[in-house]
Parts: sequence; C-alpha cells; structure tokens
Amino acid sequence: MLVRLIYASRAAGDVNAELLDAILRSSRQNNPAIGVTGVLCYSGGMFVQVLEGSRSAVSSLYNVIVRDPRHEKVELLHFEEIVERHFSGWTMGQVNLSKVNACVLLKYSARAEFNPFEMSGSTVMRLLDDLIATAAISK
Ligand SMILES: Cc1cc2nc3c(=O)[nH]c(=O)nc-3n(C[C@H](O)[C@H](O)[C@H](O)COP(=O)(O)O)c2cc1C
Repeated sequence: MLVRLIYASRAAGDVNAELLDAILRSSRQNNPAIGVTGVLCYSGGMFVQVLEGSRSAVSSLYNVIVRDPRHEKVELLHFEEIVERHFSGWTMGQVNLSKVNACVLLKYSARAEFNPFEMSGSTVMRLLDDLIATAAISK
C-alpha cells in the first residue's frame, strides 16, 4: 500500500548550496533502496518535502528526517493513502523556487511568498503540480 506524506520545517541555521547538496545526495543514495520518491523544496529558511512510498518506508524515513538537527519545527501538512505516485520519476526532485514565477506563488498564497506553514497539504500538491508543468523541478 502506498502513502504520501508532506511536511514543512524551518532550517536550524544558514542553508547554503553545500548543505542542500548534502541532503539531496543522501536522499538520492538512500531512497531508491527503500522505494521512496518525492520532492524537496527549500526557500527563505523553510523546507517542504513530499515523500511517497510504502507506509512503512515513508514512516521510518520520516522518523529519521524529523530528528535531523539541520532543521526544526517539523509540521505534518498531509498524510494519505494513494493509488499511484505523483513523483515516481524523482528519487528526490529539487524545486528551485528562485526560478518560479511570482504569479504561480500568488495563485496559491495570500502573498507572492513561499510559506508552507500557511498552506494546506493539498495546496502544496497543487503548487508542485504547476511547478512540474513549468519544469521548475530538477532531478
Ligand atoms: C529537509 C531534509 C530532508 C531530508 N530528506 C531525506 C530523504 O528523502 N532521504 C534520506 O535518506 N535522507 C533525508 N534527509 C537526511 C536524513 O535526515 C539523514 O541525515 C540521512 O538519511 C542519513 O543517511 P546518510 O548517513 O546516508 O546520509 C533529509 C534531511 C533534511 C534536513
């Protein structure tokens, strides 16, 4: 049985390209073995991540990620059983919000700023769908 989990968190310190690369490297190395796919988005001190896979794999990985000292205030936005994956092509895709048109953010938020703590899980999914369509997610 497949599930999708979405959470938001705040970076514990400064996030530079090296730190993001290290997280993505671990994800791309570890996730295929446990059958987890998804996307990771970072902007303005906040992360949002979508994890898809078996309920046990997603739950165990989430438990590992929550304890990672590189972020804090991890907030669960969404958890559901799914019949199919949305991000099957991504061991962990990266959303580059600097490439995203402000109109896309404004479509789903009160202001043209990315704040996943003010968004529902389903709104985050809709935003990510738009980003896939505009190729703003890289493998
Ligand atoms: C925001 C965030 C997202 C992460 N996502 C993943 C992930 O999808 N897969 C993963 O294996 N580790 C992820 N990590 C890293 C884990 O917390 C942990 O450091 C890693 O799994 C340890 O494995 P390693 O020793 O192989 O790097 C993430 C960490 C952070 C801060």
